[in-house]
Amino acid sequence: MGSSSFLHPRTTTLLFIYYIQILLVAYPTGGTNFYNDFDITWGGGRGKIIGAGDMLTLSLDRVSGSGFQSKKEYLFGRIDMQLKLVSGNSAGTVTAYYLSSQGATHDEIDFEFLGNLTGEPYTLHTNVYAQGKGEREQQFRMWFDPTADFHTYSILWTPQTIVFLVDETPIREFKNMEAIGVPFPKHQPMRLYSSLWNADEWATRGGLVKTDWTKAPFTASYRNFNVRNGVFAQLDSTHDQKLKWVRENHMIYNYCTDAKRFPQGFPPECKVNG
Ligand SMILES: *[C@@H]1O[C@H](CO)[C@@H](O)[C@H](O)[C@H]1NC(C)=O
Repeated sequence: MGSSSFLHPRTTTLLFIYYIQILLVAYPTGGTNFYNDFDITWGGGRGKIIGAGDMLTLSLDRVSGSGFQSKKEYLFGRIDMQLKLVSGNSAGTVTAYYLSSQGATHDEIDFEFLGNLTGEPYTLHTNVYAQGKGEREQQFRMWFDPTADFHTYSILWTPQTIVFLVDETPIREFKNMEAIGVPFPKHQPMRLYSSLWNADEWATRGGLVKTDWTKAPFTASYRNFNVRNGVFAQLDSTHDQKLKWVRENHMIYNYCTDAKRFPQGFPPECKVNG
């Protein structure tokens, strides 16, 4: 039951150890080396680690997309990555960036970026699976052009909560509601995955807008990967306000308000996180 003591250090010694850990992880770690932390797992050379290992790119053409995964598995922590998404006409492309465990009762924490026509906004799609069950979609529009530069996408995962952050702004929180019978990802270590692939049969306006293959190859770039293990759920005092701002101004879909989908009533977690 080590994990249940996560936020309840039993002794001051333990508190002290956490404190030291936080100090250590607060320092920059001297840069990412994608060679050390990731394997390109598919795409026949379309995924590449560049130069000294400080950058990774995935690409997609008519023949194939590409993807990578972390060498390590993680159980709680905070994971940051900077992504620069496919620019120009990215309609029909999907860049998935997610944590996942294995098997039929897997857990998963998803960011998915759905491309669009030049000048039209991306959709940032999120989901949380616990013990094999997802169907907890929330979607957002970003308040910047995610293709113009790198932005930081983070997952903070503790036994108490999961927070999705974009450039430090929380966009979604999925709290542990095991107390009311909602499974929570807590026991299965997860790997970090990303892939760039084509989904023009559904991704852009429900499949009406097709990928323009004359613009291929499509490329997404990754840098500044950072993992902090054993961090507290340190949400700053403005967390709730920022989350509210995002929900009021940038959320475009919430399963917890989609009555058509749940004629028998909303899932129980919607009472807390809806
Ligand atoms: C693409 O842009 C249109 C127009 O703003 C929008 O309605 C649509 O939801 C966008 N599609 C995606 C996949 O983001």
